[in-house]
Amino acid sequence: MNCSMPKRSMQTIDAPAIGLIDCPEQVSQELPDFTSEAYKDAYSRINAIVIEGEKEAHDNYISIGTLIPVQAEELKKLAQMEMKHMRGFTACGKNLGVQADMSFAQKFFSQLHGNFQNALSEGKITTCFLIQAILIEAFAISAYNVYIRVADPFAKKITEGVVKDEYIHLNYGQEWLKSNLASCKDELMEANKINLPIIRSMLDQVAEDASVLYMEKEELMEEFMIAYQDSLNEIGLNNRDIARMALAAVI
Ligand SMILES: [Fe+2]
Ligand SMILES: [Fe+2]
Repeated sequence: MNCSMPKRSMQTIDAPAIGLIDCPEQVSQELPDFTSEAYKDAYSRINAIVIEGEKEAHDNYISIGTLIPVQAEELKKLAQMEMKHMRGFTACGKNLGVQADMSFAQKFFSQLHGNFQNALSEGKITTCFLIQAILIEAFAISAYNVYIRVADPFAKKITEGVVKDEYIHLNYGQEWLKSNLASCKDELMEANKINLPIIRSMLDQVAEDASVLYMEKEELMEEFMIAYQDSLNEIGLNNRDIARMALAAVI
């Protein structure tokens, strides 16, 4: 079932998480069989990706705090929220009787993780923020919003709580990049060129498993690109810059 979603504003954490109001027929959207072996097998990797993503988000915010000591306390609070998310998603796997495949998830994140670590060691705050607070948060927000529509009731409730926090994190990164745009634009464009294609390939890698969970690749990509471009707009980039940056996802 397809229905066009309203364009969400990244400005507010109160933005609607799902588009049920505008698409009433989606209330009765068919849900997957959460007890099937196929579902559990796919969930073992998807759940691991989410758990690993939340853990790395925690570590990344703590790391960014070492580059901006004056904001370290604030970043620590964001990191603590990520730990809470990690525990929530761990509970979702346990609730379904699924063992998360953590080694798969670590490999899944390895390229982005490596790029973040390199940027960190070179003191590149802009690149660190782009990878964690914009790309990863926009990816999480869009994937979680898609997941909420087809999740089991336990996971749905947890994910709805998590996604509100992720908007706060995205806004945090946006605000920093917006205030520093004049000096960080070149680095931002360069970091986008390198890391946006990685997000795209991560989506390709996860598409088959996501589809078992009734999360379709086209919808995930569309939601992500909307969230990402909205975010670039909030940072203060113009339409031409945003279009140029978005091209990195398709080339
Ligand atoms: Fe999170
Ligand atoms: Fe986050």
